[in-house]
Amino acid sequence: MQYQKHILITGGAGFIGSHLVRHFVRTYPQYRIINLDKLTYAGNLENLKDIDKAPNYHFIKGDICDDLMLAGLLPEYAINAIIHCAAESHVDRSISDPLAFVKTNVLGTVTLLQAARNHWKADMSDKLFYHISTDEVYGSLGAEGFFTEQTAYDPRSPYSASKASSDHFVRAYHHTYGLPVKLSNCSNNYGPYHFPEKLIPLCINNIIHQKPLPIYGKGENVRDWLFVEDHVRAIDLIFHKGKTGETYNIGGWNEWTNIDLVRELCRQMDQKLQREPGTSEKLITYVTDRAGHDLRYAIDATKLSEELGWKPSLQFEEGLSKTIDWYLANSEWLQHVTSGDYQHYYEHQYQQRS
Ligand code: NAD
Ligand code: TYD
Repeated sequence: MQYQKHILITGGAGFIGSHLVRHFVRTYPQYRIINLDKLTYAGNLENLKDIDKAPNYHFIKGDICDDLMLAGLLPEYAINAIIHCAAESHVDRSISDPLAFVKTNVLGTVTLLQAARNHWKADMSDKLFYHISTDEVYGSLGAEGFFTEQTAYDPRSPYSASKASSDHFVRAYHHTYGLPVKLSNCSNNYGPYHFPEKLIPLCINNIIHQKPLPIYGKGENVRDWLFVEDHVRAIDLIFHKGKTGETYNIGGWNEWTNIDLVRELCRQMDQKLQREPGTSEKLITYVTDRAGHDLRYAIDATKLSEELGWKPSLQFEEGLSKTIDWYLANSEWLQHVTSGDYQHYYEHQYQQRS
């Protein structure tokens, strides 16, 4: 088969990456999708079981920091577009081990940029390096205002500092070497296959097992939640129709304080598990706050909606309900990812907070 595009997606075995790979493999049989993933604790090939036999899909285990491997891979698979999702992604882990974040998010991104530049140097037309980033690079908002594409970067955690640095390098490769790039900065995602170290899947798992629900500080921090498939639709639009060299903010217009979100989760899960109303709320436990905890994130996605006609498709309560249903129907997946190392991680993170 003669493919129209040969797209490398990095980090495709993770949460967002697996939804992205599935979407591209199914929607575009005329594209060949190469998924490069190191399979860290966060990467899981079970996330892709339903598409891994598709003729236009191929998985390669590898590290984006490995320049020799990349120098072989890009020509071998005739890669003409890259969607770069691979990253260390959890703020709490970045506080315990910042260097791992510098390695993958900064060094890994620059290694990939350099490999793309070398591979495409004879002809950069019709090539694309699309960098997936986060709203956390903009820092923390007070009660008012939104992050726009013009907001100055002000990262405050090792995670967001490493993502901000990678964003700067992507723009530097565009301005200095003419590498065709696009960037998007998205708010907090939720949905199926979300690793249960992040707030929503961690609480779903703990409610199922009737374990405490750890709320950092007073639970007043605000996040802007977006269903992962809506993020993927935005990436598809930006990939195909966004302007080269530009950045697009993606957000849900959907702000929740952590405590209100967890209460809503408790309410829905009591109903679904046929428990007495109020049962799960009793599990809420206030614990020591995250160091340097950003107060509020909120995205202004006007540019994306006005230029490309994107808007979120799901109301949050509906998206949360779909997400809970997925976790209840996929207890085997949840059991696999929470056995072994997860237990050590959980004990280490949460013992020191109690
Ligand atoms: P994730 O932690 O679930 O997945 C990351 C994936 O990258 C894993 O499969 C992992 O094995 C792989 N990986 C890590 N280091 C690697 C390396 N050195 N080489 C190759 N592969 C490696 O992350 P996610 O939540 O799916 O996030 C994906 C991207 O989206 C990240 O760049 C993140 O910064 C960004 N993002 C995430 C959110 C969110 O709410 N989760 C929001 C906005 C942006
Ligand atoms: P998280 O899902 O880690 O995403 P991020 O830090 O990237 O926004 O956390 C979402 C919010 O929930 C954040 O304000 C921290 C808070 N939180 C808790 O209160 N308890 C927890 O156990 C976790 C993991 C997060």
